[in-house]
Amino acid sequence: VITVCAADNATAERLAGTPGVEVVVWDGGPGDAAALAQVEVLLANVGVRLTPSEAVKALPNLRVVLVVSAGLGPWGPALADGTVPASITVCNGRGVHTSATAEMAVAGLMATVRGLPTFWEQQRRHEWTRHDFTGLENRRALIVGAGEIGTRIAAAVELFDGAATLVARSARAGVHSSAELAGLIGGHDIAVIAVPHTRETERLVDARFLAAMPDGGILVNVARGSIVDTAALLDELTRHRLHAVLDVTDPEPLPAEHPLWAAPNLILTPHVAGLSAGWQDRAFGLVREQLRRLAAGEPLLNRTMKDY
Ligand SMILES: NC(=O)c1ccc[n+]([C@@H]2O[C@H](COP(=O)([O-])OP(=O)(O)OC[C@H]3O[C@@H](n4cnc5c(N)ncnc54)[C@H](OP(=O)(O)O)[C@@H]3O)[C@@H](O)[C@H]2O)c1
Repeated sequence: VITVCAADNATAERLAGTPGVEVVVWDGGPGDAAALAQVEVLLANVGVRLTPSEAVKALPNLRVVLVVSAGLGPWGPALADGTVPASITVCNGRGVHTSATAEMAVAGLMATVRGLPTFWEQQRRHEWTRHDFTGLENRRALIVGAGEIGTRIAAAVELFDGAATLVARSARAGVHSSAELAGLIGGHDIAVIAVPHTRETERLVDARFLAAMPDGGILVNVARGSIVDTAALLDELTRHRLHAVLDVTDPEPLPAEHPLWAAPNLILTPHVAGLSAGWQDRAFGLVREQLRRLAAGEPLLNRTMKDY
C-alpha cells in the first residue's frame, strides 16, 4: 500500500477507491505524526497549498511529490536550493493544461492581429469604420519553448499561413537552441513565451529583448509573469510601440491600481489559460498513472530537473 498525502478532503476524495492507495489528509496544521510518518507521496499545488519546507519537515518518509499543475510553483526554487533533498522525486503535471493554454495564446494573438479590441470598442459606439487588420499570413512568430504548449501554438500559427520558429534549451531538428535566441528576436513580429519559470528564464524578456522586437511586434506570455520585465514591457506599451497578450503577470494577482491595467495595446487575462472543462480529470488520471507506476517499480512521468 502506498500512503498519499492530500491537503484537503476534496483532493482526497479524487483518489478514493484507487487500488493499493491509502490517503492521509493533512493541511499543514498539527497532524497525526504516526499517520504522517507513513506518507511516501504528496499531492502538491492543488487545494490547500503546503509549503515545501513544512511538508519535508512533517513527512519523514516522503519520496515523491506529484505537483498537479504544469508549473512547479514554490517546488522549483525548493528543489534548486536543496530545501527538497535530491532523494525526493518531484514530477509536474505537464500535459494536463496543454490544449487550453495554447488555445488562449492563439486566441489572444488572433484577436490582436485581427484588431478585435478596436472593433469591440467601435461596436459599443455603434460605429462602422473599416480597418485593414491583416491576419497571421506571412507573419513570423518566435516561439520560446518547444514543449507541449509551444509546439501546439506553432502548429496553429502555421495553420493560418504564418511561419513559426521554435526555440528550446537544446537545438534539434526544427528547433533552435536558447544560445541563438538573441539573434532571432529581430526577425520576428511575434514572440510567444512558453517556457517554465526557472533561474535561466527569470526576466528572459527584459528591456533588451523587447527593444529587439520590431515596431508593432506582439509579445504573448502564457507561461509565468516573472519571465517578463513588467516595467520594461509597460514602457513599450505606453509608447504604443509593441502589443502584448498576457495571461500571467508579475505581480500576481495584479493589484487594482497597477498601471498595466490601463496600458494600451494589451489583452490581459487573470492566469486562466490552463483552465478547461476536463483538466481535473486529466490531472488525477495522471496522478493515478504515477501511483500505478510507483507500485509497479516503473519510471515516473514528468520528472523535473534540479534547475526547474
Ligand atoms: N497560463 C497558464 O495557465 C499555464 C498553464 C500551463 C502551463 N503554463 C506554463 O507553461 C510552461 C510550459 O509548459 P509546457 O507544458 O509546454 O512545458 P514543457 O513541455 O516542459 O516545455 C517547456 C519547453 O521550454 C523549454 N525551455 C526551458 N528552459 C528554456 C530556456 N532557458 N530557454 C529556452 N527554452 C527553454 C524546454 O526546452 P527543452 O525542450 O530543450 O527541454 C521545452 O521545450 C509551464 O512550465 C508553465 O509554467 C501556464
